[in-house]
Amino acid sequence: MRALVFATNNKHKLEEVQALIGDKFQLKTLGEIGCLDEIPETGTTFRENASQKSHYIWDRFNMNCFSDDSGLEVDALNGEPGVYSAHYSGSRDWEENLQLVLDKMTGMKDRSARFKCIISIILDGNEHFFEGTVEGEITESRSGSAGFGYDPIFKPQGYEVSFAEMSAEEKNRISHRAQAVSKLVEFLNKQ
Ligand code: IMP
Repeated sequence: MRALVFATNNKHKLEEVQALIGDKFQLKTLGEIGCLDEIPETGTTFRENASQKSHYIWDRFNMNCFSDDSGLEVDALNGEPGVYSAHYSGSRDWEENLQLVLDKMTGMKDRSARFKCIISIILDGNEHFFEGTVEGEITESRSGSAGFGYDPIFKPQGYEVSFAEMSAEEKNRISHRAQAVSKLVEFLNKQ
C-alpha cells in the first residue's frame, strides 16, 4: 500500500476519502506525518491555495500528497467571499460570516452563487487538479441547521431547500467537494 498524505487534520474528511479509494493508498493526516505547521494559504484562487499546500508537503516531506481548497463565490459580490470564505467577517465564526453575506446581499436582485472545491495532488512529483462546482443562489434568509459554513443560505439549483435542510447523503450526492473527490478517486483507482 502506498502512503498518500491528505493535507488536513480533519480525521473525518480523511476517513470518508479512505473508504472511497480502497486499499491501494493509505491516507495519512498532517499530524500522522509529524507536520504541525500552519501551512500558508496566501493564494488569490482556490487552485493556488490547494497547490500551495500540496507543494509545501512535497517540498518538505517528499511524500505524495493532496490538498483541497473550497469556498463560496457570489456573483453580485464580485466572487467574494471566495478564498476568504473561512474568515470573511474577520472571524472564523460561521454565523458571522453568513450574516455578512446576507447583509451585503440586502436588496440585491442577482443572487447567483456557487460553491467550488479544487483538489491538487502531487503524485511522484507530477501535479494534477480536480474540480467540483455546484451552482445555486443565496437565499433571503437562513434556513436549516445541518451542515456547516454557508449551508443555511445556499440553495442549489433545481432544489427548493438550502444545503442546511438536506441530509448529509443528499448534500454529498451533489456537493462541490463530492464531485472533486469522486474525480480524485477515479484517478487514484487508475494508478
Ligand atoms: P476549506 O476548503 O475546508 O478551508 O473551506 C473554506 C470555507 O469555505 C469553509 O470554512 C466554509 O466557510 C466554506 N465552505 C466550503 N465548503 C462549504 C460547504 O460545503 N458548505 C458551506 N460552506 C462551505
